[in-house]
Amino acid sequence: MVVKAHPLWRNENEPSIAIGHAMTTIRSFMTDDHRRCDDLFADAEQAVAKKDFTLAGAAFGHFQSAMLAHFDSEEKTLFPTFEAKTGMSMGPTQVMRMEHVQLRALMNDAVDALKAGNSDDYLGLADTLVIMMQQHNMKEENILYPMCDQHLSDELPAVLERLETELCEE
Ligand SMILES: [Fe+2]
Repeated sequence: MVVKAHPLWRNENEPSIAIGHAMTTIRSFMTDDHRRCDDLFADAEQAVAKKDFTLAGAAFGHFQSAMLAHFDSEEKTLFPTFEAKTGMSMGPTQVMRMEHVQLRALMNDAVDALKAGNSDDYLGLADTLVIMMQQHNMKEENILYPMCDQHLSDELPAVLERLETELCEE
């Protein structure tokens, strides 16, 4: 799919928001947030490898909060905007919502395993979580976000500003 880059024009007299690039797309902004979540997950994995379950619990908590904020911003802002603009409400956004439900449940189970200090349970859940998360993120990064950039060019500055606010609130 060919995606046009959408410049995010800013009036110099307006207070600048912290996106920090002259040119940002939904795809690049949300992909960066996926990478941030991946890094937080890696922190939890390292703590589990050291059998430090207190640290692992805290690190996994940070990862989970970042993921939940990401899901919420998609479900409350990005997906509804995309659905309203395209009329596609039973398509890719609906699949992504169902996967969010599964990922939320897996994260809850992983938290319980860490609380119980059960590393075998945790490792099994973490393996499933990584695979599902990678597949989910790839679908968003390669299909849905480019579709959002393509269809939401008029709404882009406003949508990016809302996403940024929501992702920084957590
Ligand atoms: Fe998602």
